[in-house]
Amino acid sequence: MRYKIALLGGDGVGPAIIDEGVKTLNAIERKFGIKFEYEKALIGGCAYDDCGHPLPESTLSIAKDADAVFLGAVGDWKYDTLPPEVRPEKALLGIRKALNLFANLRPVTVFDELTEASTLKPEVVKGVDIMIVRELTGDVYFGQPRGIQEINGERAGFNNMIYFEKEIERVAHVAFQTAQKRNKKLCSVDKSNVLDASRLWREIVTAVSDSYPDVELTHMYVDNAAMQLIRNPKQFDVIVTGNIFGDILSDEASMISGSLGMLPSASLSNHQKGLFEPIHGSAPDLKGKNVVNPIATILSAAMMMRYSFGLDDAALLIENAVKSILKKGYRTQDIYNATQKEQTLVGTTGMGDLIYNEILNL
Ligand code: IPM
Ligand code: MG
Repeated sequence: MRYKIALLGGDGVGPAIIDEGVKTLNAIERKFGIKFEYEKALIGGCAYDDCGHPLPESTLSIAKDADAVFLGAVGDWKYDTLPPEVRPEKALLGIRKALNLFANLRPVTVFDELTEASTLKPEVVKGVDIMIVRELTGDVYFGQPRGIQEINGERAGFNNMIYFEKEIERVAHVAFQTAQKRNKKLCSVDKSNVLDASRLWREIVTAVSDSYPDVELTHMYVDNAAMQLIRNPKQFDVIVTGNIFGDILSDEASMISGSLGMLPSASLSNHQKGLFEPIHGSAPDLKGKNVVNPIATILSAAMMMRYSFGLDDAALLIENAVKSILKKGYRTQDIYNATQKEQTLVGTTGMGDLIYNEILNL
């Protein structure tokens, strides 16, 4: 089998972590006798520097042509003063929309070896296994009208939180089906006590639940969900929520796992096609220092195997290799705990090499 993968390293530490992700994929090729074909393209600030646009047509067509997209991260402070249409973040939103990647899966799992790395108490985080399903192509992120305009003699900034029925319905189906494969519990998060967009959200999710009688559906307001996530995260199995709430809750939830550097993501359309990226950003201050944790990216490669290529064995092998390396005490700085003697501090490439070899050995 041959699979075509678009490699979009992006800015900051993006290219370095994608290199480690590809290293992992090299091991999978050797182990399973399959072949990945790569095509590289620019996205974000580096693309803007190259051609004046953060998401060039050429990049989009490479992404559209591939079976899966593997993305590092975009953004750098030096682009903070650019007009909004050409900021690096716009490229990320643009590619999600152009490929119709409406369902963003962000798993939050706590490796037993890392329960001490979280800022929360070990007994609170041990065994946490949550799947956040974040709607990714609607909401206040894309709603029109939007802008900054003079109204009654002063400037006003505004965005439109808007959800169409079909947008809610399709992501709800993904969430229910995800729950069916797990512990069959789905919590829909909204703010329907205040927002009309959320009132419709709740109504549609409830209607979709008729097709999934085996899944237990509950609803929670987003402010309560933010609190419950750190009070008792083990109460959650699958969470489904809108774009902006999902953005915020997934960063919060990442700290349960100990580090933003541990969390992968998959952004999926109706087809097998997906975009796989760590949930963390480009961390420009860490660029070139070989310190950033590549595990979020490597676990994103595992999600690519599972969701785009249907290679569950390859996905499991990558996840087991990561577990095994953590068990042996290897840590990048973000998850390193100096008080624990049996730990070895490694860099980005060191961690990538260890996982590569582990995949071949397991
Ligand atoms: C994320 C990021 C992006 C988002 C930014 C970089 C546009 O925070 O993927 O969570 O808000 O979706
Ligand atoms: Mg975010």
